[in-house]
Amino acid sequence: MVKILGIVGSYRKQGLIDTLVGEALAAAEAEGATTKKIYLTDAHIDFCRNCRHCTQRPGPERGDCVQSDDMDAILDEWAECDGLVLGAPVNFFNTTAVTRRFMERLVGFAYWPWGQMAPSVRAKHAGKRAVVITSAAMPGLMIGVVTGAPRALRMIATTMGAKVIKTICVGLVAREERPTPPARAVRRAQAAGRRLAAR
Ligand SMILES: Cc1cc2nc3c(=O)[nH]c(=O)nc-3n(C[C@H](O)[C@H](O)[C@H](O)COP(=O)(O)O)c2cc1C
Repeated sequence: MVKILGIVGSYRKQGLIDTLVGEALAAAEAEGATTKKIYLTDAHIDFCRNCRHCTQRPGPERGDCVQSDDMDAILDEWAECDGLVLGAPVNFFNTTAVTRRFMERLVGFAYWPWGQMAPSVRAKHAGKRAVVITSAAMPGLMIGVVTGAPRALRMIATTMGAKVIKTICVGLVAREERPTPPARAVRRAQAAGRRLAAR
């Protein structure tokens, strides 16, 4: 059975991003997948210390982090999954701080011993696939051009060993406190969820 992990990097439960991640997961479930949603704001995730302990050992397995918080449990859960729905809004022209904090803790997916100039990702696209979703006040077409958010979300997914099959950018969402997600964005999230469920 296909397992899909949803990760919400928005600060607002039932906000735009949470709703669209939920739509993607619900559509995947309707196709028979099992899903789980994690809110990064609920997780205990400390900042990366740049100690690079986790990057020293060679091999395909992610390195061990010296910190003990919720990160291992999240990544162990991910190891059992086939698909990822990762959503986070644009804040100050990039993704949210809570999402970037999570991203920095993924460095153990790379092998980067002291003496090597740059990291090399341990396992690329091991059959896992991802959909990333972002939203902003600006028009959707501008998001990929003037913000770093889609790139950051795709980098998270690829670092986690997934191939990104869809990037959904939803613009003009900050005019109301509780906007109704645009119908087109809902349809795109649902279609992306169905694609992840189909193996
Ligand atoms: C602190 C903060 C910074 C923001 N920065 C931007 C920005 O740089 N560009 C933009 O278009 N929208 C920006 N926004 C609007 C958010 O992207 C928008 O409210 C969000 O996509 C809604 O998603 P949510 O319902 O999941 O919170 C910002 C909002 C906040 C609160």
